[in-house]
Amino acid sequence: MEKLLIVGPASQMLGIRIARELNIRAINTEFKTFPDGENYLRINLEDESTIKEKEVIIVQSTGPSSSGNQNARLIELLMMIDSIKRMRAKKLIIVIPYLAYARQDKVFRPGESTFGDLIIRIIDSMGIDELYVVDVHSPKILTDTYSKITNIDSMKILAEYIKSLGAKDIVVVSPDKGAVERSKTFAQHFGDDIPVDCFEKSRDVKTGEITMSGKLSLKDKDVVVSDDIIATGGTMATAIKLAKESGAKKIYAVATHALLLQNARFRILEAGADEIIGTDSIDNEVSKVSLAKLIANYLK
Ligand code: R5P
Repeated sequence: MEKLLIVGPASQMLGIRIARELNIRAINTEFKTFPDGENYLRINLEDESTIKEKEVIIVQSTGPSSSGNQNARLIELLMMIDSIKRMRAKKLIIVIPYLAYARQDKVFRPGESTFGDLIIRIIDSMGIDELYVVDVHSPKILTDTYSKITNIDSMKILAEYIKSLGAKDIVVVSPDKGAVERSKTFAQHFGDDIPVDCFEKSRDVKTGEITMSGKLSLKDKDVVVSDDIIATGGTMATAIKLAKESGAKKIYAVATHALLLQNARFRILEAGADEIIGTDSIDNEVSKVSLAKLIANYLK
């Protein structure tokens, strides 16, 4: 069956890279926001029969960017799925490198919505065949679906990139206990017996304010502070400051999804990071590690 790849507005670099890896045709979209705030999107093709009976892959991250917030990105994604279904693709595969709302996975305060899993249920109900996400914040929101869902792990390629920078005598540091298991898996990609340590973090559920504490043995170590998401940079910057105070020599701030909102870049560098490293799940200047080959391998 012939395969085509639809490059969503939010994943232009990664989408085209995946299409190249798979050696298949990439089709882009035309998109805009109407004056009333509604989104418009059309798949950029002249003849709808292009889609009929084909295997179609849609790649669209749902992180905020200068040309659309995550709500717009989600609406665009739903529009793409709807158009492709209407044009009668034989098989529909969705790739959402960064899944928005995945942090809203449980009720922290009475009256809240667990919106992360609602998004998955909506997409799943649209008659898709397969869904791929990358290092999703809360894998538990991926259960109970009809379609085949895969959470791709980017830790190996992130570790390879950091090793290629010449990092030695590495300690992997997790900003909080919740991410320790992930950090332990991450550490294995740097070699045997790489130490993993963590700080104590808590976040006020009302104000969102972070407090973190801890002193680790990091003297003269190359420290990799790793998290799944960097949003405002508060978590990362606080962990880096503590790592610096604990004697770290070099500090790499690493996240699969480096959204870098507000003053995140400044906060993280000012706290003492030598480098910020992310993947192209979010298209910005720190997307140093491409997910294209990794994702393409799943789609082959
Ligand atoms: C939270 O549990 C996540 O893993 C990240 O630590 C968090 O989303 C980062 O947010 P911020 O950069 O705003 O501190």
